[in-house]
Amino acid sequence: MKKLVVLASALVAFGTVCSGQASVSQLLTENETNPLGLTTTDPRFSWQIRSPQRNTLQSAYEIKVSNGKNTVWSSGKINSDSSVHVAYKGSPLLTNEKYQWQVKVWDQNSKGSAWSAPASFQMGLISPADWKARWIESGLTESPSRPSQLFRKSFSTGKKVKSATAYITSHGMYEAYLNGKRIGDAWLTPGWTSYKKRLQYQSYDVTHLLQQGANTVGAMLGNGWYRSVLGWQNNGNIYGKTLGLLMQINIDYTDGSKETVATDGSWKSETGAVVYSEIYNGETIDARKEKLNWNTNNYDDNNWTAVQVKDYPLTNIVTTVNEPVKKQESFKALKIITTPAGEKVIDFGQNLVGWVEMKVAGKAGDSVLLSHAEVLDKKGNFYTENLRAAKAQNKYILKGESAETFHPYFTWQGFRYVKVEGYPGELKPENFTAYALYSDMKPTGIFNSSDSLINQLQHNIQWGQKGNFLDVPTDCPQRDERLGWTGDAQAFSRTASFNMNVNNFFAKWMRDVEADQIEGLVPHVIPNALGKDGNSAGWADVATIVPWDMYIAYGDKRILATQYNSMKAFVESVRRTTKDDLWNTTWHFGDWLFYRPFDDNDGSSAVTDKHLIAQCFYAHSTQLLINTAKVLGNKADADTYTNLLQRIKAAFNKEYVTATGRLVSGTQTAYVLALQFDMLPENSRQQASDRLVENIKRYGNHLTTGFLGTPYLCHVLTRFGHSDLAYTLLMQDSYPSWLYPVKMGATTIWERWDGIKTDGSFQTPTMNSFNHYAYGAIGDWMYRKMVGLDTYEDGVGYKHIQVKPHIGGKFTHASASLQTYYGTLSNAWKKDSTHVSMQVEIPANTRATIYIPGTDIGKITENNAPLSSSKGVKITGQEDGYTVVETGSGKYSFAVKQ
Ligand code: BGC
Repeated sequence: MKKLVVLASALVAFGTVCSGQASVSQLLTENETNPLGLTTTDPRFSWQIRSPQRNTLQSAYEIKVSNGKNTVWSSGKINSDSSVHVAYKGSPLLTNEKYQWQVKVWDQNSKGSAWSAPASFQMGLISPADWKARWIESGLTESPSRPSQLFRKSFSTGKKVKSATAYITSHGMYEAYLNGKRIGDAWLTPGWTSYKKRLQYQSYDVTHLLQQGANTVGAMLGNGWYRSVLGWQNNGNIYGKTLGLLMQINIDYTDGSKETVATDGSWKSETGAVVYSEIYNGETIDARKEKLNWNTNNYDDNNWTAVQVKDYPLTNIVTTVNEPVKKQESFKALKIITTPAGEKVIDFGQNLVGWVEMKVAGKAGDSVLLSHAEVLDKKGNFYTENLRAAKAQNKYILKGESAETFHPYFTWQGFRYVKVEGYPGELKPENFTAYALYSDMKPTGIFNSSDSLINQLQHNIQWGQKGNFLDVPTDCPQRDERLGWTGDAQAFSRTASFNMNVNNFFAKWMRDVEADQIEGLVPHVIPNALGKDGNSAGWADVATIVPWDMYIAYGDKRILATQYNSMKAFVESVRRTTKDDLWNTTWHFGDWLFYRPFDDNDGSSAVTDKHLIAQCFYAHSTQLLINTAKVLGNKADADTYTNLLQRIKAAFNKEYVTATGRLVSGTQTAYVLALQFDMLPENSRQQASDRLVENIKRYGNHLTTGFLGTPYLCHVLTRFGHSDLAYTLLMQDSYPSWLYPVKMGATTIWERWDGIKTDGSFQTPTMNSFNHYAYGAIGDWMYRKMVGLDTYEDGVGYKHIQVKPHIGGKFTHASASLQTYYGTLSNAWKKDSTHVSMQVEIPANTRATIYIPGTDIGKITENNAPLSSSKGVKITGQEDGYTVVETGSGKYSFAVKQ
């Protein structure tokens, strides 16, 4: 019998391989695996197809969705090649209900797959009326240091629990518990949004934490973004003065009945052991004030104070669409240093964002102070001046037990070094662990090359992203800023989309962009913690650039539809301030942090006219609005803005270009922006690119660009046939360049090209972050041009792939892989004295146009056989020194004899 089963399954396996039957896996709902808390009425489904056969395409799919008892949607067989973002079309989805779905597909030969394994999703509280909870606030009079507040309630469940979901949000940050156990593994919840208009709640499955009989639910609240000081003008209480909790647990019993436990007047409150907590300054925990077992049944809350119930409207409460912040990598103390100043400092080896967990034993009242720094100074001393007013210190006061563990709750630090003061006993590395904290986005990109400095650059780009994608895209994580600077985010968004899946991350943040727009004007930071100013060119354009970048990277039309009003309102807010179609009357940051030598006798500072820059971005945003209108089928707007765009470009040429084609600012950034955004008539573009080349050479093959020119610099060079110079810039290691900080020991991207100067001294402490991702935007060129992984706009989100490596520099190999919604896309090229080779992987249900370097087809092989005989690879022509082939999914091994 056993033999028979083995034989049968072997036959099945053989059959699968022979027939090349496709299978379906990696099911996502709204870009997440088995999410909870959806409130969209038509969630979108995505799946991946696996097949041993080349050129697998989907010709049809069928989806079925059930609520455990009944089928709520059966799509029937739909003839379509869509396998990404397919919207639900069944009967209305109900609050707090859990659903399962499965999909099967047919390939291009009409061969059907088996049904996939089921995936699930659960709806959240869809409308304000679904909230039984009411806002509660502590009944205590608050002391000036504003200690954390504890809330608790005991309740009992009489019946057997089938499932239970907790929905939680707060004014301030919360950490919630059920029967003494932490609910979920998210940190810094409820995250940061434009709270007055959008306050996110989180949904947690707490079935396993509930017990039959007595239960206790608790929550601890800290200031968080709600009322910590934000910005450098000492502004606290931006959203309100009082902490509050809104929480409910929806319980489903096995007998079909339901019950809700919710915040109301029966809860009680006290203060906790977190006696001080500010985002910038850090946290103080006095463990002597801990209320032991306060969040369990085993506690007497008789002398706790009754809470106050508040009737705040619930119309601003929204579900969470992005991945929560989670504890990610951990770092052991690399070494403990005694600095020349005699201080004890731990080196964790990586500039990271999060906090240190410390194990300690001592007397009650002993106090340990942990200070954080990104760098040591020239002499090797602990350096914190660049943190400006942010104290970035955590303090722990011991309760006097044999082993105590400290970590903060409602703050984080950006650091590599930690100074320890007051530690009782010997400092041992094993008692200190640093944890990185960042939004739990799926890693999607891997880049590697034959140059170790470039690999370190990629490492630094990724850590810049990890450190600054902390629920919102921040400029920097350490000083008294940590704000969602729009310019930085737009500059880096495309690079970010290679390293990690940032679709939901940006979808959430872009809603806050819209929420905080002031008659279309986009404030400098989102959520807007700074005030009324905005519409700085290249910053405010985040409104158009990020939605478009996400659409290109993920093929997700919904972000365009959701953001369309915001995009249009922004362009209109600019148009209103223009005269003769010139955006030249308002203030701008300009090409922030461009190159400017100290003693600039011959005027080599790379100052670009701010209004010239503004005009380029005005055109770019208008172009993206046109593109979006076309995707959404809004012909009237597409026509209106096409007309406007022509006028914007004409005004640019009249105002900023001389008769001989010179730009009035002769900088790299001016030429880069004019070329990248097609501002110049076609017949003058090549000469403009030559002027750019000449400019770079004048600076001894150095870039001079700031935040706005840098992201496009190498792209423009490559587009106009100067990839060799793009490589020279990439490999440049003297200031200003990408590799200069790498050579100076950077483990993240710096804010300035010369944060640390060649003599080891620092740039001005007023603005010198060592973890600022903006200049990391070169990563986009490394993935898209160096390795050559890109998507065409006629098949966004890698439905139609381009693989076109630009082999150059002194590299002998470069490779990258990207987890697209369709599956793995990768290319690895190698070059030696006899061959150039490319190993390419294309996911199923996509098509690819691959550029193989070399035009002598006779010298090209695929899988060791002549290219012309390669199965499923169609040679379509020759272009720019490449042989171009069209193909579909599969693994390909190309070699070109040199
Ligand atoms: C931030 C930047 C930001 C800039 C605006 C700085 O303080 O750190 O990254 O874009 O201000 O000019």
